[in-house]
Amino acid sequence: MCGIAAYYGKRSAVPILLDALKVLEYRGYDSCGLAVYDGKIRYVKTVGKVSELLKKSGELPDSASIGIAHTRWATHGRVTVSNTHPHFDCKKRIGIVHNGIIENYQSLKKFLEGRGHKFRSRTDSEVIAHLFEEMLRNYPEEEAFINSVKLLEGAFAIVALYGDKLFLARKSSPLVIGIKDSEFFIASDTVAISRHTDKFIFLDDNEVGIIRDRNLEIKNLDGFDVNKEIKRIKRTEEEIDRGRFETFMLKEIFEQVETVENAYKGRVDFKAAVPVFGGIDFDKIKKFRRIILFACGSSYNAGLYAKYLFDRFFDCHVEYASEFKYADKKISKRDLLVAISQSGETIDVLEALRKYKEKALASLGIVNVVSSSIAREVDAGIYLHAGREIGVAATKTYTSQLLTLFLFWIYLARKFNYIDFATAKRYIDELKKLPGKVGSVLKREMEIKKLARKYVKFGNALFLGRKFNYPTALEGALKLKEISYVHAEALSAGEMKHGPIALVDDRFYSVFIVPHDSITDKVINNMEEIKARSGKIIAVTTKGRSLKQIKRLSDDVIVIPGTKEEFLPVLGIVPLQLFAYHIARLKGLDVDKPRNLAKTVTVE
Ligand code: AGP
Ligand code: GLU
Repeated sequence: MCGIAAYYGKRSAVPILLDALKVLEYRGYDSCGLAVYDGKIRYVKTVGKVSELLKKSGELPDSASIGIAHTRWATHGRVTVSNTHPHFDCKKRIGIVHNGIIENYQSLKKFLEGRGHKFRSRTDSEVIAHLFEEMLRNYPEEEAFINSVKLLEGAFAIVALYGDKLFLARKSSPLVIGIKDSEFFIASDTVAISRHTDKFIFLDDNEVGIIRDRNLEIKNLDGFDVNKEIKRIKRTEEEIDRGRFETFMLKEIFEQVETVENAYKGRVDFKAAVPVFGGIDFDKIKKFRRIILFACGSSYNAGLYAKYLFDRFFDCHVEYASEFKYADKKISKRDLLVAISQSGETIDVLEALRKYKEKALASLGIVNVVSSSIAREVDAGIYLHAGREIGVAATKTYTSQLLTLFLFWIYLARKFNYIDFATAKRYIDELKKLPGKVGSVLKREMEIKKLARKYVKFGNALFLGRKFNYPTALEGALKLKEISYVHAEALSAGEMKHGPIALVDDRFYSVFIVPHDSITDKVINNMEEIKARSGKIIAVTTKGRSLKQIKRLSDDVIVIPGTKEEFLPVLGIVPLQLFAYHIARLKGLDVDKPRNLAKTVTVE
């Protein structure tokens, strides 16, 4: 998935590229490299983060004003210096950076080796440089590049540095060009370059860009000029500053008091007790018979939560985008597609959307990054307004997704008259209390930290909940896995007795999300079953008639404020985010950049 940056202009390229790479690290951070042109190509590469590259960058000339850079999330080839981008052709006259996967790289490599090319890495990406070199034997540079791109299968965003020129290409992976007079800033996202300009051109699939003689041309793969709109996107200033917090993740967990409010503020007509979605044309979508939500990771968990809501009135399916894409599902003009993606760039979600969009009635995108590919490709975008999330683990965007989906449900339910004014008003009145209630959970941080100290030595955990709290169990386990590297499983508590209970002994602890709602008693039964097998129990619950019993069954209890059943997941996940956070910190781990992960997953 990786981050790409490139610069063409009159200033020294190295600091501009390092600065952009630092911002792009959320996309991958196992190794990074940078190449500039100064009469010839010079480069540095390193395993590790951009801070390591910074130490080596003194070797590069200040005078170079054109260059390319990359921060990698390895797909093909181990994390080594030789596999780090940029990659070069045989004579090191071409340097390339690539985001994505070249699926036919093996056959291309075989062909190129047959033509005498010598490869230095195990990556799929290196073929791009050699292919361009090979094409240059027979074609002028522009044709040579386009012909190379035409032979590539898979997903890619590419920038090639050839002499004092840049060649760009895109298919599925994002690439944006920032423009300021005759300076060009290229990156995988706008944020990496937005301190330089607010004018951007988004390269679309099967387009190439050529920057030479201080000029940018965009062409299609037939070599014809394409007219592109220049979009203006203002820099959002809240980002990149941790403020008083030790990590971005902690800052983002605490921001939930505001982001929860932002999710409904300006979106609800309080008088009419109805949400307003300006971008949605209700007449266009009202004929749907089925809603299909699709997403990955935390966004999938949010989708699963929404299914419990939508199922009450509509036929609703929730799918892993990576499965949905290949499922050959029958989609018709009666289907409403809803893509859920914080980044708006997750390739599995984007490609599922592309596959089914034309067949469906309409497509909506619940996204946080407004300028993202998914936001641009859906019929209507519904935005989270959560601000930029930098920590790899989704926290504030998850709770915003829950609430945005909730509002969309109420919106439809009101439009179809499944919910009357009084009921909707009760929901909306409670909604307004949520920021305060999130705040009161956050005040318990020290208590949760103490709990983390007690459980940090355990290597296994089960997260259990039912109905609306089952997605909370999934999300709590995902947090623990991804930032603390603790083996955690989540189950609907009722499923546990069908096999997984065999795992339970005194080395396992179970986290029950068991607030007082319509299914508390059933979950208490499941707690009894664990207790009977000497399993340790942490319960996340609310005050209510069964609190005593829950306390008796549990080794530790976290009491969160009560609320309507539909809002419990917003409050229930917060202590689990803090719990995972403190376990990870106690283990001395980098919570903002956990190993093997990336914030935006632009490879399949
Ligand atoms: C969440 O903590 C994860 N890092 C991950 O599962 C994430 O939710 C997933 O990759 C989907 O990302 P998206 O919402 O940007 O599409
Ligand atoms: N497939 C390339 C590699 O493994 C690029 C991966 C990425 O997008 O980070 O190097």
